[in-house]
Amino acid sequence: MTKHSTVPKAELHCHIEGAAPPSLVMRLAERYRIDVSPVIDRNGRYIWSDFTEFLRAYDLASSVFRTPADYGLLAETYFRMLAAEGAIYGEVFISPDHAQSAGLSYRSYVEGLAAGIERAKIDTGIEARMIAVGVRHFGAKSVERVVQEVIANPHPLVTGFGLAGDEREGHPANFARAFRMAGEAGLGLTAHAGELAGPESVLAAIEFLRVKRIGHGVRAIEDQDLVRRLADEEIVLEVCPGSNVALGIYPVLRFHPINLLRRAGVRVTLNSDDPPFFNTTLGKEYTSLAKTFGWKVKDQLALTRTAIDAAFCDPATRKRLIVRLDSAVVP
Ligand code: ADE
Ligand code: ZN
Repeated sequence: MTKHSTVPKAELHCHIEGAAPPSLVMRLAERYRIDVSPVIDRNGRYIWSDFTEFLRAYDLASSVFRTPADYGLLAETYFRMLAAEGAIYGEVFISPDHAQSAGLSYRSYVEGLAAGIERAKIDTGIEARMIAVGVRHFGAKSVERVVQEVIANPHPLVTGFGLAGDEREGHPANFARAFRMAGEAGLGLTAHAGELAGPESVLAAIEFLRVKRIGHGVRAIEDQDLVRRLADEEIVLEVCPGSNVALGIYPVLRFHPINLLRRAGVRVTLNSDDPPFFNTTLGKEYTSLAKTFGWKVKDQLALTRTAIDAAFCDPATRKRLIVRLDSAVVP
């Protein structure tokens, strides 16, 4: 097992279905007699070659989670692993559309996940929240349905709303109404932008969706005016470098713009996105980025602090997390 640094870590961007270990997916697939061989190879690795195929693999792997207990096991497994890497806080994107395709109501999906989160928290102390996402390529109506479900079934651990899926489809203007409803209900807002599309996509997300956090956002680097605006408005980027390299957005970590963004004063955090699909973990992200860009412990602690500052949690939880971060002794 890889040894991880003792730097306290926090994550804002990880899709719970995308965090499913292939071994767990195969176990459930056998139980429910679902053929996952098109998307998991004989070495137990996910198979995909571009973003469209990745989404297809993701959808099939997700389809093996059928009951609240299955989702509970997934959440418990993920948060235990995250805590073992030194994380004190994690937010996961949850996708009511995926749960619905597997025959689960929104309420039982959330309750199953919450039970797993609680079990992991009792044993490890990790704090967690959920962000419900709409799938962009399913269209505005579908995304609005997700917001309505979230508002109609409030849960203390569901504190945010977001937009995932294929950024190349559907202008953010189509989702303005959904985000307005979510914002008025007091949910924290974030949207994927500037991953598969350029700076114009990031700008549109800020203007039409009024988000203070952006999923990825890294392609903002192609427009210096936008970089300045992100810095001035203190918009936080949920950066997922390993995911970006795996999907071919940048050829190698050395060419990833996170360090340029950071030096330009943009607030950045480190995240794993869909860890087993991209052969990464939050711990690996901290370690490999520190190595690539020569980041010291204080630079890594600053990433965690930014994540906690921008977390979709209540003020008392934020304060407790900051105390934990400040009291950590890192050699
Ligand atoms: N859903 C799961 N992972 C995603 C990603 N990296 N971008 C957009 N939607 C996603
Ligand atoms: Zn993502």
